[in-house]
Amino acid sequence: MKALVINGPNLNMLGIREPGIYGSDNYDCLVQICQEAGAAQGFDEVEVFQSNHEGSIVDKIQEAYGKVDGIVINPAAYTHTSVAILDALKAVAIPAVEVHISAVETREDFRQVSYARLACFATITGEGLQGYAHALELLKEHLEK
Ligand code: DQA
Repeated sequence: MKALVINGPNLNMLGIREPGIYGSDNYDCLVQICQEAGAAQGFDEVEVFQSNHEGSIVDKIQEAYGKVDGIVINPAAYTHTSVAILDALKAVAIPAVEVHISAVETREDFRQVSYARLACFATITGEGLQGYAHALELLKEHLEK
């Protein structure tokens, strides 16, 4: 079973970027958490991808069709704007979990909208980087049903 973890813009800046909100661990830590959690959950492979570009994220979701069993996605700022990412997730119909490092529900009004959520069977917010491990756990449970 293969999982794909997709990270949107500025998540490569973890550790530098607003540490009061996103913590002091860097992007490599995020990748390591995903790899370790994926192995612990029994996934054969976990690919972790990051892009600052909406089209590249759409391309990655399309390329997953027929190759990936489940997706964990933190679309970052594109969460709140991207119908294209929502449509790509709907197009491939791969089971997906939405993750946010911060508790988006306690933040600005513009962060209260999530387009991607409409194509995800679960959402995790405010658990920091461990939210990715939680998402992989939910994904595995869902795929085993
Ligand atoms: C985020 C929350 C978004 O609102 C923000 O634009 C991000 C990160 C999070 O992980 O908490 O870039 O998705």
